[in-house]
Amino acid sequence: MELIFATSNKGKLREAREILGDDYVLRSSAEAGITEDIPETGSSFRENSLQKAEYIWKKCGCNCFSDDSGLEVDALGGAPGIYSARYAGEGHDFDRNISKLLHELSLLDAKALIEGKAAPERTARFRCVVTLILDGEAHFFEGSIEGHIAYSRSGNGGFGYDPVFIPDAFPDRSLAEVPEDVKNSISHRGEALRKMAAWLRERE
Ligand code: IMP
Repeated sequence: MELIFATSNKGKLREAREILGDDYVLRSSAEAGITEDIPETGSSFRENSLQKAEYIWKKCGCNCFSDDSGLEVDALGGAPGIYSARYAGEGHDFDRNISKLLHELSLLDAKALIEGKAAPERTARFRCVVTLILDGEAHFFEGSIEGHIAYSRSGNGGFGYDPVFIPDAFPDRSLAEVPEDVKNSISHRGEALRKMAAWLRERE
């Protein structure tokens, strides 16, 4: 089955190919001839995810799916959330986003120290909402992974905030230090895409 994945993020595409396996031929939006940035103006992962999938469906009428995902840090009231990709500006620069995140958390630590309070917890999670549009109808699949934010980067794998995200499942490593197939087996995107694949298989 051929599906367009509404993304230009090479990390997401690589992970989705690994998760969905050979039963699906995945094409990126660029491979489907859509090279412009797809608008993301919603106020939730679900709204943005639907917006991206609908954009592809309206442009080419192909069966497609999108993922909207991001990091929620409890001490920052859920930020960066839907703004994860552009936390440090429109450049979508992963390294600058991490620097800003570590800086914001260090400000909270300094404030707590001055006030004689304990440093805030660094608990966080990635969330993902996948929207599949099949024959014009939208279906949603969700996933999440719990963890916390490290004080510095480690590892070269993955993408985005992986070098500072310590998953609860592997408390001594960042997500950028676990092999990609292991990340996919525990990640928010892995969970959501496996739900989508199971739903598609059941339907056949
Ligand atoms: P969007 O879904 O394309 O709007 O962007 C999601 C952003 O969230 C990415 O650019 C990353 O910064 C972050 N993100 C989402 N999933 C992951 C992940 O698996 N690892 C690290 N960062 C992620």
